[in-house]
Amino acid sequence: MNAHDSEKMMGLLREEGYDPVGDPGEADLIVFNTCSIREKAEQKFYSQLGCTRRLKERNPLLKIAVAGCIAQQEGVRIREKAPHVDYIIGPQNIGRVGEAVARSEGGVLTEDNPGIVSADLPAERRNHVKAWVNIMYGCNNFCSYCVVPYTRGRERSRPVEKVLAEIRGLAGSGYREVTLLGQNVNSYRGEVSFPGLLRLVNDVEGLERIRFVTSHPKDLGEDLVAAMRDLEKVCEHIHLPLQSGSDRILRLMNRGYTYAEYRTKVERLRRAVPGIAITTDIIAGFPGETEADHRATVSALGEIGFDGIFAFKFSPRPMTRASEMEGQLPEGIKSERLSEILRLQDDITEKKNRALEGSVQEVLLEGPSGSDPGTATGRTRTNKIVNIPLSGDIVPGMLLQVKITKGHRHSLEGTVIVTDHR
Ligand code: 5AD
Ligand code: SF4
Repeated sequence: MNAHDSEKMMGLLREEGYDPVGDPGEADLIVFNTCSIREKAEQKFYSQLGCTRRLKERNPLLKIAVAGCIAQQEGVRIREKAPHVDYIIGPQNIGRVGEAVARSEGGVLTEDNPGIVSADLPAERRNHVKAWVNIMYGCNNFCSYCVVPYTRGRERSRPVEKVLAEIRGLAGSGYREVTLLGQNVNSYRGEVSFPGLLRLVNDVEGLERIRFVTSHPKDLGEDLVAAMRDLEKVCEHIHLPLQSGSDRILRLMNRGYTYAEYRTKVERLRRAVPGIAITTDIIAGFPGETEADHRATVSALGEIGFDGIFAFKFSPRPMTRASEMEGQLPEGIKSERLSEILRLQDDITEKKNRALEGSVQEVLLEGPSGSDPGTATGRTRTNKIVNIPLSGDIVPGMLLQVKITKGHRHSLEGTVIVTDHR
């Protein structure tokens, strides 16, 4: 969500006549797009922000903007820590970044913005094969640990026609894949429901693949399972955050489902969509989490066998209920539990990837690999990274049939057997 907000701010600033520079020392304007989901992100931001003070002393014309969730959460308080900040722009107001930076006197834009759903912001995308597309903004779920409902505001769906027009435009200019973005896509309420929207997007000509993030398990219904089963462009992958395997902790988190209900949904997905990859998010060390609760999470990971997880130590966030709960755990316990979770999942992921050796996968080629100049990289429909030897007759955007030769912990290796020039 944040990365795509940055693409939009880039597009808007380009329209204002700004061009990116390689070195912050040469910039007239520095925009931080911030995340406040966990404290670590906030600390990283403040240390980088501190470094810009010196740049501003050297270049008094330099302007500093802070956008995103920390801007919303802290508002003008940011200036108490960093008086050199000129503009503070919350996530609902990034569409006004041009207006903000045109004011020489600085400004704070953090008001609620229901109009966000009808704004067409010109995103400047770096990747020309796959694109993010917002379908909704904000969140109404108030999971007790989460700051997002406070920083991004209430849930709002973009009208169907806006979403479709953007996707048709992308497909027309050569994009092959879209990822529909929302904090909880299952509660999309445009003129149609989320599965209805998937059906309409599936009809967009030229598009090859559709993904979406994030699904909330409590709202995942039979109609979405059916849409994933029936629509050929919807990829066989779902990111379905579990957070904990303990019902007691899930209740304290205000998640609205039990572990058994989650498992049932996973089984339905696996039955309807053979080979579907399921990934998840886990929080280790939620307040009051006992050793038994933690064991429940560990056994859930073993039982379900996710294709990948993102796991985090619980981090108390301002305004959230969990930050005030009794039973806050020491860092040491949180770290130990997190390591155990990550170690276990590493083994599971590696086994799953090894099991793919010898299989043939459809890979959408994205471009040269960032780390190895001799290889190109792409993803399977199940969202696994595949590296293949770079050769002259393959170009980004191609759909390839690739034989998997090796499964690693975080990627697959393969060789192209069919080059499909669609
Ligand atoms: N502490 C740790 N992890 C968190 N997440 C959200 N809020 C917190 C927090 N306060 C995690 C959840 C969510 C993912 C995006 O970030 O697992 O699914
Ligand atoms: Fe945060 Fe829960 Fe909303 Fe996700 S669904 S953004 S975790 S409040």
